[in-house]
Amino acid sequence: MISAEPSPSLILDKHPTAAAVAAVEGQCFGVSWSVQEVERLLSNPAVGAWIVRQSRLDVAMICFQMTEDEAEIYRIGVLPGRRGKGFGRRLMVEYLSEAKRRGCKRVFLEVREGNIPAVELYRSLGFQVSARRKNYYAGPPEDGLVMELRVAPEKRAPSVRPRAHHVPGIRL
Ligand SMILES: CC(C)(COP(=O)(O)OP(=O)(O)OC[C@H]1O[C@@H](n2cnc3c(N)ncnc32)[C@H](O)[C@@H]1OP(=O)(O)O)[C@@H](O)C(=O)NCCC(=O)NCCS
Repeated sequence: MISAEPSPSLILDKHPTAAAVAAVEGQCFGVSWSVQEVERLLSNPAVGAWIVRQSRLDVAMICFQMTEDEAEIYRIGVLPGRRGKGFGRRLMVEYLSEAKRRGCKRVFLEVREGNIPAVELYRSLGFQVSARRKNYYAGPPEDGLVMELRVAPEKRAPSVRPRAHHVPGIRL
């Protein structure tokens, strides 16, 4: 399915602005967050958002909560024109590595049952369905699947993300 490898110029920005998160999120999802909503989310020190940047273009994002024992993915999205090229998997793999580094034991997420690309991505990484939320979604009505991955923590590290200054992105 993956037709091309992402370019080596990929950057993972772990401290993007709320405006950048809202902008890429809006392109990935039909219903999007406002900048104010993202700011409110990020004011919680346990919440984080990362952006994948390719040649200065923001192509993917993930927003999540991560506490000492558990992590939850709120949203992951790739720009429509960049899907199927491995960005989603790379972002998830990096996220799960961070969860392990921080000592998380379980990672949760919730997904529309008919969202096959997302469900397949999560399954391929070892997530299993732990609960079903009947008719959780509207338009069209559909069940939500709560998926869970049990991870073996590597070691403990602080879960507080620094917000005081911009930190350069890392290469993916
Ligand atoms: C779900 C999503 C993030 C996947 O990102 P992506 O970059 O397109 O995925 P990748 O190219 O990294 O593919 C990784 C795996 O996902 C699954 N996958 C991706 N596209 C798929 C498709 N069209 N059909 C079935 N499985 C698919 C496969 O398991 C794939 O692994 P493979 O390449 O070994 O077959 C992307 O489709 C997306 O942004 N969707 C819209 C937003 C959304 O629904 N987000 C999830 C809910 S919050």
